[in-house]
This record gives sequence, structure tokens and C-alpha cells, in this order.
Amino acid sequence: MNKDLLKLLDLTGDEIITILDTADMLKAEQKSGKKHDFPQGKTLAMIFEKNSTRTRVSFETGIFQLGGQGIFLSSAESQLGRGEPIKDTARVLSRYCDCIMIRTFEQERVEELAKYASIPVINGLTDFCHPCQVLADLQTIREHKGKLRGLKACYIGDGNNMANSIIVGCMKCGMDVSIASPKAYSPDKEVLDFTETVTDCKFQLTESPIEAAKGADVIFTDVWASMGQESEKAQRERDFVGFQVNDEIMAAANPGCMVQHCLPAHRGEEITEKVFEDHAQEIFDEAENRLHAQKAVMYLLMKNNMK
Ligand code: CP
Ligand code: NVA
Repeated sequence: MNKDLLKLLDLTGDEIITILDTADMLKAEQKSGKKHDFPQGKTLAMIFEKNSTRTRVSFETGIFQLGGQGIFLSSAESQLGRGEPIKDTARVLSRYCDCIMIRTFEQERVEELAKYASIPVINGLTDFCHPCQVLADLQTIREHKGKLRGLKACYIGDGNNMANSIIVGCMKCGMDVSIASPKAYSPDKEVLDFTETVTDCKFQLTESPIEAAKGADVIFTDVWASMGQESEKAQRERDFVGFQVNDEIMAAANPGCMVQHCLPAHRGEEITEKVFEDHAQEIFDEAENRLHAQKAVMYLLMKNNMK
């Protein structure tokens, strides 16, 4: 594996499966009270330039359960908020800590942090992608369905960071993927180019949610206005009419189709209250698996990069 986890495009399918297998192992160990085989006293710096509930708590709990300590750095409280360059922050944190997790806006900022850090850097969400979330999603789907290869994933909504990561993560694991987004909200071109290189599963991009949902084994959705897009909320509510996961959409999918939502969810917008609650078990399993999947990422990256 590379030093860092910056985007799923950087991983092979086999590397993703290794992370999922490790996540399953760490989950089983934690559930049975078995101590993890991981060096004690490691520190994880956690930089947050956007809000978070799940990412913050699962990373901080995860490093603690591995025998280490998380250090929370919000942009408001650290010197980053006063303009200290990310490349200097990278070199400073590399002298103190063993790993850095960052949630921010531009993907380039994470890439620059990783370039200047001598320790592993983990992307905890950018405008471009959300790799940790989709690793947890894949772990959840595999738990519920017993496999990934050959299943069909469908995503309905904004072609955002979640859509980009779902496409790459699912296709690298051999799943067919269909995306339904309004034309002006398509996934990133780099990701669409990637789909053209994949030969062992299918990709469909459509403006018809019903068409996308046909034969799906798992349906994903996400908020219409992501963090940083608050000023576009009203326009997006108009543009995304019809792009809601509801009973009609679920009826087009395969029997037993799962629903995944990274959360937070906006009931009545991208998903109905009924579909959300019908699938709450799967959605909160997904939230739980953030903990296990991220512990696996830290375990693999930090073990490979012992100082
Ligand atoms: N899904 C997710 O990343 O949640 P938070 O924004 O709460 O971290
Ligand atoms: N697309 C959402 C995901 C939140 C976890 C956002 O970026 O705000």
C-alpha cells in the first residue's frame, strides 16, 4: 500500500479487500474483547476544516482502541485558521505524531499535506471524495450480502464526493454501478474517465432514478447540498426534485435491496422518512463500520510506516 489514503483511485481492488478483511478482523476482536496486535502509544492528529460527528468520533475512538491517542485540531483553534501553510503544518505534525487525518475542501490540500508529511495521511473527506466512508459502506454491504463482486450498486442524487467514491470503490470490487444525477450535477470527470478503463463490471450514468434503480442490490443517496454549498441550497432543492429515494424507487430494485446513507440525512429531501426507517439497521451498521474500517486503515498504514 502507499504511505497515505488520499483517494480510492490510488488503491487496487486487492488493497481494498485487504482493508475490508482487516476491518472485519478488528471488529471481531473488539466485539470479543481481544486486544489488538498494534504498537501502543501512537498519536493521530485530526485536522477538521469542516464539521463532523461520525468521522471525528470514530477516528478518535478508533485510535484509542488501538492503544493510541487522537489530537483534535479545528481550523478555528489551530494556526491553520490563521493561514499557516499546510506544508509547514505537515512537517511539524510529522515530528510529533504517527499519522494525520484531515477533512477539508480541496483535494489538492490533502495531496499537498501528504507530500510534505513523512507520516501517513488519511483523507477524512474533501469536496472530491470520501474514501473512509465508502470503505465502511463496502464492509457493510459484504456483511449483509456475503459478497461484493457481481452485485449492483445504484446512487441517486448529487454527483458529489460520495458519488465519486462509490463509483470507484464499488467498481474496484467488481460491482456494477448506476448513477442517477441531474445533468449539471454529474460525478467528476476523472472518475467518469476511470469507469471507461474498467472491463469486468458495468457503469451507467442516467438522469432517470427509476432506470438507475432497476436490479439494484444496494441504493445509496446523500444530501443535495454538501458542506460548503449552503448558499446553493434553495437552487439545489429545485434542481433535485424527483431525485429522492422513496418506495417507488425501492420497488424498481431487487428484492432485499439495501439502502446506505453516509449521514447526516435530510428526510423528505434525498430520502423519505419511511425508506430511511425501513433500512435504519443497515444505515446504522454502516455508521458503526466507520470505526472498524478506519481502524483497519490506521492499522495497515501505521504498521507499514513505523518510525
Ligand atoms: N458520514 C460522515 O462523514 O459523517 P460526519 O460528517 O458526521 O463525519
Ligand atoms: N456530501 C456530504 C457528505 C457528508 C458526510 C458533504 O460533503 O457534506
